[in-house]
Amino acid sequence: MRKGQLPSLRWKTMKLKELLLVSSVLVAQIFCDQRHQPLINNRSFTIDYARNTFLKDGVPFRYISGSIHYFRVHPNHWEDRLKKIRSAGLNAIQVYVEWNSHEPEPGKFQFEGNQDLEHFLELAHKWGLLVILRPGPFIDAERDFGGLPFWLLQKNKQIKLRTKDPSFMKPVRSWFQVLFQRMKKHLYHNGGPIIMVQVENEYGSYGQQIGKCDTEYISQLRDLTREHLGQEVLLFATDGGGSIDSIRCSKVPGVYSTVDFGPTEDFKDRFYHQRLFEPHGPLVNSEFYTGWLDHWGYPHSQTPSTMVNSALDAMLEFGANVNLYMVHGGTSFGFGAGSNFPSFQVTPTSYDYDAPISEAGDLTPKFEDLKRVVAKYEYIPDAIQVRNSSKKAYGSIYLKPLGTIFDHVSNLTTLSTSTNKDPLTFEELGQAFGFVLYEHRIDHITTNPVQLEIQGLHDRGYVYVNEELQGILSRSESIFTIPITITKGQKLQILVENQGRICFGKDLNDFKGITSQVKLGNKVLNRWHMRSIPLSQVDHFKAAPPSLKTEFKSMSFWKGHIQISCPRSTPEDTFLSFKHWSKGLVFVNGFNLGRYWPRLGPQETLYLPGPLLKCGGNDILLLEQDETPCQHHKGSWLHCNIKSIDTPQLNGQTPSV
Ligand SMILES: *[C@@H]1O[C@H](CO)[C@@H](O)[C@H](O)[C@H]1NC(C)=O
Ligand SMILES: *[C@@H]1O[C@H](CO)[C@@H](O)[C@H](O)[C@H]1NC(C)=O
Repeated sequence: MRKGQLPSLRWKTMKLKELLLVSSVLVAQIFCDQRHQPLINNRSFTIDYARNTFLKDGVPFRYISGSIHYFRVHPNHWEDRLKKIRSAGLNAIQVYVEWNSHEPEPGKFQFEGNQDLEHFLELAHKWGLLVILRPGPFIDAERDFGGLPFWLLQKNKQIKLRTKDPSFMKPVRSWFQVLFQRMKKHLYHNGGPIIMVQVENEYGSYGQQIGKCDTEYISQLRDLTREHLGQEVLLFATDGGGSIDSIRCSKVPGVYSTVDFGPTEDFKDRFYHQRLFEPHGPLVNSEFYTGWLDHWGYPHSQTPSTMVNSALDAMLEFGANVNLYMVHGGTSFGFGAGSNFPSFQVTPTSYDYDAPISEAGDLTPKFEDLKRVVAKYEYIPDAIQVRNSSKKAYGSIYLKPLGTIFDHVSNLTTLSTSTNKDPLTFEELGQAFGFVLYEHRIDHITTNPVQLEIQGLHDRGYVYVNEELQGILSRSESIFTIPITITKGQKLQILVENQGRICFGKDLNDFKGITSQVKLGNKVLNRWHMRSIPLSQVDHFKAAPPSLKTEFKSMSFWKGHIQISCPRSTPEDTFLSFKHWSKGLVFVNGFNLGRYWPRLGPQETLYLPGPLLKCGGNDILLLEQDETPCQHHKGSWLHCNIKSIDTPQLNGQTPSV
C-alpha cells in the first residue's frame, strides 16, 4: 500500500472492537497526505486524541522505529548502523540509556567515548531519525542488573529497587538531573530528534511480581522528568500487551500507555488491551520482536523473516506505530551482559538477536524483506548508500602461557583486600564485576572426603585446595555442594565469578560472590580473606614474563598477537573463534571484548570490530577458566591457538536438556 491510499478492509467481517480501532486509523491515513506541507513551522510533537494519531508539527504522523543500543555498538560504527536503519525507511530509533555505564561510581558521571550519548543522538538527527528515549532508570535489556548501578546494593542491602524507597529515588534524582540536563536541547521542540520519553520500563510486570503496583513511584518519575524536561514533552509507558493487569499496574495520568508483543501474538487483541487504557490516541507496539535473546547452553534463537515481516505488514496496514526490537542488536562487550531468573540463565556476549541488521552490521535477508514492507508505507531514501562491511580472516593467533591466576593475584588485586568473619559479597567489597578470591585456612581435622556446601554461591565457584582445582560449583546448574579432600593447615580457596546480575523479575537484588555461610561437613567456616579481582584493566600483562610452567590446573592467562598490515585502510572487522577452548574472557589491546564459552554454546565466535584493532601489532590476552587445548612438547606449545575468521558462528551445539 502506498502512502495516502486507503487500506483494503473487509468491513463485513469486522468485529466491533476492530471497527473501533480501525475507524480511528482511517482518519489518520487521510491526514497523512499532508505530511509534506507542515501546517505550522515551529516544531511540536503531540497526540491528537480526536484523530487517534501522533502529530508532528501539527500533522498526523506515524513512526516505524527500530531499537538500537549505543552501548552495544562501537562508537566508530554508530553512524554506519544509523544510516542502515534509515536506509530501510525507518523514521525513528528507540534508545535505552544505561545508568550503570554513565555513573559507574556514585556522582562520577561518564559521557565520553562509548558513553557519548549526545553524539549518538546528533548522528541520529543528522540521518533523519527521530528518537524515542527510554531513560529507565531500570531498562532490563539483558544488561547487568537491568542497567542499574551495582553500588545501589552496596549503599543499602535492603533497598527496594524500582519503588519510591528514598534510598532508590535519591540516586535516581541526582542521575536524572545530570542526564536530563544533557537531553533537554535534544528534544524535538528544542530542535533535536527526541519525540517521546519513556517512564520506567515494563514496570507493570515487576509490580505484579512484587505484589505491589507502586504508582506513586511512577508518578514521581513522571514529575521528575517533567521538572527537568518541561511540560511539553510527550511521556509514555510500555507494558506487555498480553497482560491487562500489567498495563494497569503502571498506569498513571499524563503518561501514555503503549504495549509490546511479538509476531506470533494476535495484534488486534493486544491493541484492544491498549485501548482499554487509552480509548483514544495512536496505537503503539513499543517492542515488536524481530528475533529473541540467547542464553549460554540453550539453542540459538531464530525467528523466520516471513513471520516477522508479514506480522509487521499487517500492523502497519492497520495504522499502528511500531518499534522493532531489535533492528540491530550488537554486542554485550566486557561484563555488560545480564542474567535471567528464576532458572539462573546467563546471556552470552553476542546480542545479535537475529535482528535485520546483524551483530556485525550486515544487511541480512530479513533486512531486505523489512525494507520491502516499509516501502509500502514510507518513503525509502534510496540515495543513502549502505553495504556490508568487509570482514577479514587474520588467521591463527598463537598463544603463550603467562601463568595461572594465582601467579598474578597480587597484581590483579587492585582494590584493597579484606578479612571478615563471614564472606563478603562483591557489593560489600565495592566491586562491580569480575572475580573474588575467597580464602580460608582449615584449622581442624576433617573427614576425608568432606562435603563443601555453599547455598548462596553467585554464580560460579572454582574450588581449590592449595591452588589445586577440586571442582566447580555452579548456580546455573544448581550445584552448591561438592566433596573435597582437605587436611588441617591447608588453604581452601574459592574463586567466584560474577556471571552478570539478574536483569528481570522480582529477584533483582542479586548480590554476587558468596552470599551465605560456607559449610565444610557440619561446620560453618569463619574467618575469610577476600581478594577483589575486577579485571578492569590488564595493562601490567605487557610486562609479565612468560611462565615456565608446562601444565595448568587452574585458571590461566595466555598471550598472543595479531600483526596487521594496512597501508591504505584501517583494520577490518573479524570474528575470533575459540574452538577447542572452554570458557573465559578475551581482551584485545586491553579492551575487554567479552566472555567466550564455546563448550556450552550456542555462541562460538566473538565479533571483533575493526576499530578495536590497529595497524601493526595487536595484543590478545585470554583468561581461560577451564581447560585449554594447549600441549607442551619439547619446549614448545602445540594446538595453542585461537583463530581470526571472516564469518560468525552463533548457532553452535548446546548440551541436550
Ligand atoms: C508554535 O506552535 C504552538 C502550538 O504548538 C502555537 O501555539 C504557536 O502559535 C506556534 N508559533 C508559531 C510562530 O507558529
Ligand atoms: C550481507 O551479509 C548478510 C549476512 O551475512 C548476507 O546474508 C548478505 O547476502 C550479504 N549481502 C551482500 C550483498 O553480500
